[in-house]
Amino acid sequence: MPLVTTTDMFKKAYAGGYAIGAFNVNNMEIVQGIAEAATELRSPVILQVSAGARKYAKHNYLIKLVEATLLESDIQIALHLDHGDGFEICKSCIDGGFTSVMIDGSKHSFEDNIKLTKQVVEYAHAHGVVVEGELGKLAGIEDDVNVAAEDAKFTKPDEVEEFIKRTGVDSLAIAIGTSHGAFKFHPGQEPKLRFDILEEIERRIPGFPIVLHGASSVSQEYVKIIQANGGQLKDAIGIPEEMLRQAAKSAVCKINIDSDLRLAMTAGIRQFMAEKKDEFDPRQYLTVGRQYVKDVVQHKIRYVLGSEGKDQ
Ligand code: G3H
Ligand code: 13P
Ligand code: ZN
Repeated sequence: MPLVTTTDMFKKAYAGGYAIGAFNVNNMEIVQGIAEAATELRSPVILQVSAGARKYAKHNYLIKLVEATLLESDIQIALHLDHGDGFEICKSCIDGGFTSVMIDGSKHSFEDNIKLTKQVVEYAHAHGVVVEGELGKLAGIEDDVNVAAEDAKFTKPDEVEEFIKRTGVDSLAIAIGTSHGAFKFHPGQEPKLRFDILEEIERRIPGFPIVLHGASSVSQEYVKIIQANGGQLKDAIGIPEEMLRQAAKSAVCKINIDSDLRLAMTAGIRQFMAEKKDEFDPRQYLTVGRQYVKDVVQHKIRYVLGSEGKDQ
C-alpha cells in the first residue's frame, strides 16, 4: 500500500475517540521497531522526521527506509515532517515524497504565523499533501518563566478559529502544558495539563483534529535501567499516561512521541552492554534496542492511543 495522508486516519480517530501515534524516526532500527509494533496490532501510524533526523540520516535514506516498510507491511502509514520551520524545508519534503508536513510558525507573531502557514498550505494542497500548523508555544521546565508568562504560552482558544480559517491547515498543534524532552516537570511537581483549554478549543472548532506535541510519558522503568547501568541521567518526569488517554478520547487525533523511544532504546542497549561486556557486534545490541522500541510502541498503541485494530 502506498503512503497515505492523515485525513482519513484523523476522521476515524476523531469519531472513534482514539488517537494516532506519531513516532519520530532516525534510523533503520527505530523504523522497524515502530512498523513491527503497529503491524502486529493493526494500528495506523505516523512516522515523523525532524530536521535533525534529516541531517543525521539524510532525506533519501529515511524515505527509502519508510518505502521498505511499505513492502513489509500493509497497514496505513503517513510520512510527516516534524517541526518544519520555514517554507523551504516543507517544500523539500513535499517534493520528496512526504504525505504530511508541519509548519511550526509558533515563534512568529499571529499574523506572520498565518502568512507562513498559508503559504505552505497552498503549496502542499496543490501536491496532495496535508499540513499541521501550531498555535501557542510549548514550554520546557528549563525555561525561566513566571506564571503570567507561562499563561501567555498556552494556545488562546479565541485565536484558533481565525487561524484555521485563514490558513486552511488540516490539523492544529496546541500548547496545553506538554513540553518536549524527558524533563517535563520538576521532581515533586505535580504534572498538569490544561484540559479546560482543550475543551474550549474543541467547542470552538468541532470536528477539527488537534495535535499534542511533547507527549512522552517517561517510563520510570527505563529511567531506572539507564541509571542502574552506567547512565548519568538525572531524574526525568513526563506526562502521566492517564492524561494522554483522556486526551486521546477527545479532539486530539495525533500524539507525538520521541523521547520515550530514545529512553527505551537506550535502556535496552545499556542493559545489554552492561551484561555482555565483551560484545562489540552492533547487530547484537541494536537487536535489543529495536525490540525495546517495538515494546514501547505496542504499549502506547494499546494503553495510551487506543488505536489497536483501527487499521481498516
Ligand atoms: O520535537 C522534537 C523531536 O523530539 C525531534 O527532536 O530535533 O532532536 O530530532 P530532534
Ligand atoms: P517528546 O519529547 O515528549 O517525545 O515529544 C516529541 C515531539 O513532540 C515531536 O514533535
Ligand atoms: Zn514536537
